[in-house]
Amino acid sequence: PICALSRRYHVTWNKKPLGETRLAARVRPYHALLTTLADPITRKVLQAAPLLQCVANFAVGYNNIDLQAAKEKGIWVTNTPEVLTEATADIAWALLLSCARRIPEGERMVRAGKFKGWHPLMLLGQDLTGKTLGIYGFGRIGQSVARRGRGWNMKVLYHQRHPVSRSVEQGLQARYASFQQLLQRSDFISVNAPLTTQTRHRFGTREFLKMKRSAIFINTARGAIHDEKALAHALQKGIIHSAGLDVYEFEPRIHPQLTRLENCTLLPHLGSATVETRDQMALLAAENIHLVLSGRKPKTPVFIP
Ligand code: GLV
Repeated sequence: PICALSRRYHVTWNKKPLGETRLAARVRPYHALLTTLADPITRKVLQAAPLLQCVANFAVGYNNIDLQAAKEKGIWVTNTPEVLTEATADIAWALLLSCARRIPEGERMVRAGKFKGWHPLMLLGQDLTGKTLGIYGFGRIGQSVARRGRGWNMKVLYHQRHPVSRSVEQGLQARYASFQQLLQRSDFISVNAPLTTQTRHRFGTREFLKMKRSAIFINTARGAIHDEKALAHALQKGIIHSAGLDVYEFEPRIHPQLTRLENCTLLPHLGSATVETRDQMALLAAENIHLVLSGRKPKTPVFIP
């Protein structure tokens, strides 16, 4: 995005996130900000930027931005939907396969020199084929996860506030379930919802207790949608089978108990991390900024100010 924009604009950048205080101290001269999910674009930051017209988030999620404050100031907020859908669904699937087939455990075992030959009971996992996949949050990414489930002949349930249209349900052969049904009936649960006040800590001790003991919990959305301490407890006590996480509540910090559990696969927020996807995200964010700064409507606004 820097190359694309620097032909027309004066661009500066930081290699690492600055944090709220330093951001607020530096934003004054800027007309646009290209931000990552690690940049807290709070009311304080927005108030310190009198010239600001656009915050282009280099992510589909925008829980790092105070939308209300942006709206009040008439600042456009944009994100990068669509272009990262398939890459993120792939990471959810990679985590599901990792947990079900205990792939990271096997890899650690081989590297530690502990593979002493084939054994009929070594590292037994679970079949995926024909199982019930439960998706929490059935937007673009959730639906893309569902589409992959069909390749494994899975039954797909989903939950979010409102059901999707019949034609989308039929196309994906997915059925709407209440949250309780989703917890109780799913063999695998994939979280693909945005982080909002409604979804924060939606998965805690009570929810893990309702799941099957064989359940696998995958979160590639935002870490704060589950309660990390409750998840660590559920994994340690065998309340659920395993978990695959790409996201954490306080990134890059991870609840220390999670890092000690063999039945937890941990990735460093790789959902959209492919060359093709990151290129497209960059171009989209740059295009959004250019459109706003030339007085036009951005391509992917989060709201219309
Ligand atoms: C990544 O987490 C994103 O929201 O794009």
